[in-house]
Amino acid sequence: MEKELSKTAGAIGIFDSGYGGLTIFNKIQQSMPEYDYIYLGDNARTPYGTRSFEIVYEFTLQAVNRLFEMGCQLVILACNTASAKALRSIQINDLPNIDPRRRVLGVIRPTVERIGSITQSRHIGVLATSGTIDSDSYPLEIHKLYPDITVSGEACPMWVPLVENKEFNSPGADYFIKQHINNLLKKDKMIDTIVLGCTHYPLLLPKINEYLPKGITVISQGEYVAQSLKEYLMRHPEMDELCTKNGKNRFLTTESESKFCESASTFLNQIISVERVDIE
Ligand code: DGL
Repeated sequence: MEKELSKTAGAIGIFDSGYGGLTIFNKIQQSMPEYDYIYLGDNARTPYGTRSFEIVYEFTLQAVNRLFEMGCQLVILACNTASAKALRSIQINDLPNIDPRRRVLGVIRPTVERIGSITQSRHIGVLATSGTIDSDSYPLEIHKLYPDITVSGEACPMWVPLVENKEFNSPGADYFIKQHINNLLKKDKMIDTIVLGCTHYPLLLPKINEYLPKGITVISQGEYVAQSLKEYLMRHPEMDELCTKNGKNRFLTTESESKFCESASTFLNQIISVERVDIE
């Protein structure tokens, strides 16, 4: 039997397959510290980037339902792979049955909206997981707003494991970072803007910058997503009222608490307490 969902206000839910969403959480929390947040990382089943549509959808829906059961009225999929492969189905097919007043938002649209004012050459590169690249979500969303922009994508399947295993500063990271940046720039020599289309990748930024030729702007999503969420809550006061504001953060993981705690401190620069949950 389905659990009864509470109709009262709750924390803003932030979901990612693992730690990457913390780069988004960080910026959202800095920009709106008065809100309550529940961060959920499905670390036990990460990475999502190499999984099929069906599985990413199933896992993401489980996570969203868990956050709803915990009282969240608004959930941000702080994961490009989940935004690319599960967001639309959840919005169109599941939300009307679960609770039509609740909302689930992704990270691709807020990123894409800002791109048009950044690129001069109108040639963009996207670095992301295989799942996000194969879904074509970035070119599709970019062309809805900016039909004149040429988009080239490069899947970087090793980058998430490098981050999840805290190898982002290691010599091993250099090989894969150089390889994928070179591949991308070979596809289109006029690229002047590169989107880091995976929430894990900002951790690789120092190394990415080492291998990028000068004059290319790299876009991380955190600030754009935070700004877009702020504007969304201003445009939707009925949703804003359903988001509690006591400045409290909870962190949940489907893997071990101690592992999450240790790795999360790298992303957040703070010690946090973590609870383990089952979402299946
Ligand atoms: N951080 C996620 C994203 O933005 C995906 C990582 C994964 O492969 O699980 O795409």
